[in-house]
Amino acid sequence: MLSKNMQAALNEQVKIEAQSSQVYLAMASWSEIQPGIDNVTQFFYNHSDEERMHMLKLIHFINERGGFAMIPALEQPALTYPSIIHAFKELLKHEIMVSESINKLVDIALNEKDYATHNFLQWYVAEQIEEEALARTLNEKLEMIGDEKSGLYLFDKDILNVSIASSNDE
Ligand code: FEO
Repeated sequence: MLSKNMQAALNEQVKIEAQSSQVYLAMASWSEIQPGIDNVTQFFYNHSDEERMHMLKLIHFINERGGFAMIPALEQPALTYPSIIHAFKELLKHEIMVSESINKLVDIALNEKDYATHNFLQWYVAEQIEEEALARTLNEKLEMIGDEKSGLYLFDKDILNVSIASSNDE
């Protein structure tokens, strides 16, 4: 059975995952109208779907543990970006924020000796390591490319392979 405190903290994470899905969906829609980055667009759509899956996993866990998962209102995400590199910088910043939030949940679970929730959260800890590593790799590639069009072409060609290789999703 979840404590009220643990339940509230997990519900906060439901919102963060839902908001992440929304942020990446907005990135996907923006990149879809940019020329020549179809795979980058697909990457953002896929990432948005993954975040929705992270949210659903939390919802089921909260409800199965005797709590109640509350579906939150979301904030308006940024609709446009000055460039692709700006979008990916934002993605990395966002994932670092998510990791910090997961770490706080782990702290709460340990303080409360809630080992079931602690165990459940380990999946998210591993996922965040993967997601941050992937976001860093993509940012490094983009920094090397700069404004070079041929580099961006190759980046787009490559991005779905990079994400598949780094994903630990079920
Ligand atoms: Fe579900 Fe990318 O954090």
